[in-house]
Amino acid sequence: LLSAPLNGQRLVVTAGGTREPIDPVRFIGNRSSGKMGIEIARAAAQSGYQVDLIVGQIEVNLPKSERIHITKVETTEEMFRVVDQAFVGADGLIMAAAVADYKVDHPADQKIKKTSATSTLSVDLTQGPDILATMGAKKQASQFVVGFAAETDHLDDHAQAKLSRKHADMIVGNNVTQVGSGFGTDTNQVTIYQPNQAPQQWKQMSKTAVAKNLIQFIQELR
Ligand code: C5P
Repeated sequence: LLSAPLNGQRLVVTAGGTREPIDPVRFIGNRSSGKMGIEIARAAAQSGYQVDLIVGQIEVNLPKSERIHITKVETTEEMFRVVDQAFVGADGLIMAAAVADYKVDHPADQKIKKTSATSTLSVDLTQGPDILATMGAKKQASQFVVGFAAETDHLDDHAQAKLSRKHADMIVGNNVTQVGSGFGTDTNQVTIYQPNQAPQQWKQMSKTAVAKNLIQFIQELR
């Protein structure tokens, strides 16, 4: 059941992973399933937000909804451009996407062939934009930005560092090596980090429940 529209309040939500082409048939990608971001979009729409859902190359299984507008992108730079536009006038941004940090300098126009002359192949990579950090740096006082931190170690330190480096109002941290948490699973165990506050560790629950709790938590803060 959808609750009443929150008089035009709009959230920008990203989900899934970006891909950086190496040549026309190959890319550098990651293991993001997009489940967490999609559940966040669903929960936000159910609470009455208008949602701009910007996704990488993943299946989006959402019932058709006038509350959710979906844009599909491939690369980090494409996601950056779409988020940058959508963030104008939005109430908040939740970046659940796994964004590629590096892009291939000069993707080949034609499929790269295996040669017998050399046994190695090098591709040069350059850093692309950090979407969250850029939006965090330019957000208005009324806008909030939430990031995710998927870590394999030292979650507290990395999440706290991300809060400040990305000017985020909240980082949702999860340890991707823990059973029932992270990539591809239907459950997640997250810790909420906010500036000048003790981290809040949530129980392991379904990603649907994490998303609902997160949206409710954000609404209560505002
Ligand atoms: O730095 P790291 O990738 O671990 O930070 C994770 C958070 O930053 C996520 O919310 C992710 O969506 C966002 N991010 C981004 N642009 C990047 C890299 C990460 O917006 N280039």
